[in-house]
Amino acid sequence: MTKSNNRESQYPIEPIFLDRWSPRAFTGEVIPESDLLGILDAAHWAPSSANQQPWRFIYTLNGADDWDVFVSLLVESNQEWAKHASALIFVVSKDFSGDFSEGRKSYTHSFDAGAAWAYLALQAKLSGFYAHGMGGIKHGEIRETFSIPEGYRVEAGIAVGRLADKSVLSERNQEREFPSQRKQLDEVAFNGKFIAG
Ligand SMILES: Cc1cc2nc3c(=O)[nH]c(=O)nc-3n(C[C@H](O)[C@H](O)[C@H](O)COP(=O)(O)O)c2cc1C
Repeated sequence: MTKSNNRESQYPIEPIFLDRWSPRAFTGEVIPESDLLGILDAAHWAPSSANQQPWRFIYTLNGADDWDVFVSLLVESNQEWAKHASALIFVVSKDFSGDFSEGRKSYTHSFDAGAAWAYLALQAKLSGFYAHGMGGIKHGEIRETFSIPEGYRVEAGIAVGRLADKSVLSERNQEREFPSQRKQLDEVAFNGKFIAG
């Protein structure tokens, strides 16, 4: 087993998988675009079905003119803390291959985009940042704001920032500012069978 970050795996694994977590307390510092691009570069090395690379990242940096617009596209409960991130990203996936008119739908676009998100989160941690995924985003407004056409799915938002003391958070968020645990491995990994639940 491996122990790190108040977490313990059942088998020996690389500590980075335990050290990555999703804090909400961010410093709000302005970062160079190259810092974020390094993280996105890692993300786009994720594997994907037929190497279609269906992920797309729409991003801005804290301090940019459109920062408030990006913040407004999060649900209120996420706005409260994510506005202090250093970068905000919306992940979009392309759900067809070739020309949209050909109608060849991709079965795995969301799965592939999820792999890219995981790479992003790990590289963020390795680069001295934390990445926090957000399902709580205004999907329709994001589609409208960025003129995202049919054939693309708005998947999730991501806040990237440097860790601050949890005292910057509301009382409710302070209470949940800790690395979470996981189910036992045998609740999710089955040898030769499937167990629902
Ligand atoms: C796709 C996705 C959507 C999430 N949505 C939200 C969200 O809207 N707001 C939030 O505060 N946390 C959100 N989270 C964070 C999860 O709650 C968190 O990843 C999970 O509890 C595991 O904790 P850990 O990332 O610290 O290991 C989201 C995470 C993912 C991957």
